[in-house]
Amino acid sequence: MSTPSPSPSADPGRFATPLNAVVPVAAVGEFAPLALGPLRVDPPVVLAPMAGVTNIAFRSLCREFGAGLYVSEMITARGFLMGNRLTTLLASSAPDETPRSVQVYGADPIDLAQMVRILVEQGVDHIDLNLGCPVPKVTRTGGGSAIPAKPRLVARLVRAMVSAAGEVPVTIKMRKGLDESLLTHLEAGRAAEGEGVSAVGLHARTAAQLYSGQADWDAIGELKGALSVPVLGNGDIWECWDALRMMRATGCDGVIVGRGCLGRPWLFRELADVFAGREPAPPPRFAQIVDVALDHAQRMMALFGEELGVRQMRKWTTWYTKGFRGSAAVRGELTRVRSFADLERAFAQLDGDEPFPLTALRANRAKGSKSQRVRLPEGYLDDPDDDSPPKGPHSKEEIEAFERALSGG
Ligand SMILES: Cc1cc2nc3c(=O)[nH]c(=O)nc-3n(C[C@H](O)[C@H](O)[C@H](O)COP(=O)(O)O)c2cc1C
Repeated sequence: MSTPSPSPSADPGRFATPLNAVVPVAAVGEFAPLALGPLRVDPPVVLAPMAGVTNIAFRSLCREFGAGLYVSEMITARGFLMGNRLTTLLASSAPDETPRSVQVYGADPIDLAQMVRILVEQGVDHIDLNLGCPVPKVTRTGGGSAIPAKPRLVARLVRAMVSAAGEVPVTIKMRKGLDESLLTHLEAGRAAEGEGVSAVGLHARTAAQLYSGQADWDAIGELKGALSVPVLGNGDIWECWDALRMMRATGCDGVIVGRGCLGRPWLFRELADVFAGREPAPPPRFAQIVDVALDHAQRMMALFGEELGVRQMRKWTTWYTKGFRGSAAVRGELTRVRSFADLERAFAQLDGDEPFPLTALRANRAKGSKSQRVRLPEGYLDDPDDDSPPKGPHSKEEIEAFERALSGG
């Protein structure tokens, strides 16, 4: 079958940064739905797992705007198996949520298999394994983004999960490597493929980079060339057009969208539009964004109760108001809100008619620009063929402290 060439024309009035001014929308048949085992994800767009972000409230909001797969935040296998109340809540989904997708964090094959069995019994449709968490507390124990440096350990963990999952597709999400001197994505990807993963997701930064610098899309193309299973590209999709550019440049089979949707859940509508070959509508003005933010707050209150739900909205207010004139003046008030009424009052002080600022499209929304030296257990790299699971936290207190430190991939 010949690949249709994308239409060269682009709308000159489109709301995009110069980088994306003339990127053509998808041509008919240009991008296939993403196949994850029996699941079909169309368009091939995945909401990135984000700790403290992709809970039921935000997932349901994104889903109403667009289409795709919406993954939970990372759920620690140990906390889940111990029945930790918050972990159980975060791993749950809305009754109408389908497909249901959960990201699992763990480094012990027995725990992972047990958690997978329970999730499958509960009707989960997709399970992702976090192999990208760069937090020192995690890598210092040999977990998260340290795991791909040991391909046989990757294979062992994936094998345990895949055999417990039956028909339910299992994927992994990893980084490029520990740092530029130790890139691991190709070997770890091959190891996971050999054990039956349905796709491999790559956040194209190293653990040392954290979220700084630009994602290295070439690494995504390289991984695509090395594997037969679908590859999901991740890193720096801020505008819907970036997803098309990434897929065209790398040949990847789907995209994972992280920070770009923070305070901008309509990004998923724009993605659905461009994948369907349509120019997206301009982004909402501030008054409509307030409606979205208040809707989000209601969903957070339904999940966590008013007090905790509103408190959790504080960080979101920074993202929803990013780049709007005058937002700095009410930022203090917004980050202290204690009730839904406080939230309404603070938003009401801003100009509802103000259009979405172009400068906010690619503005960093979380995590900053720090990098780090990756902490590993003593002698960790001495034997890359070692497949023994790292020793994780065991007691309830250790697990709770560990879960508080978890924040990403
Ligand atoms: C607030 C926040 C929390 C995150 N939590 C997770 C997580 O739980 N699991 C994971 O695999 N990655 C996590 N990540 C990483 C993202 O899934 C994604 O890989 C990263 O943000 C790069 O994509 P982006 O450039 O589109 O933001 C997190 C990122 C952010 C900003």
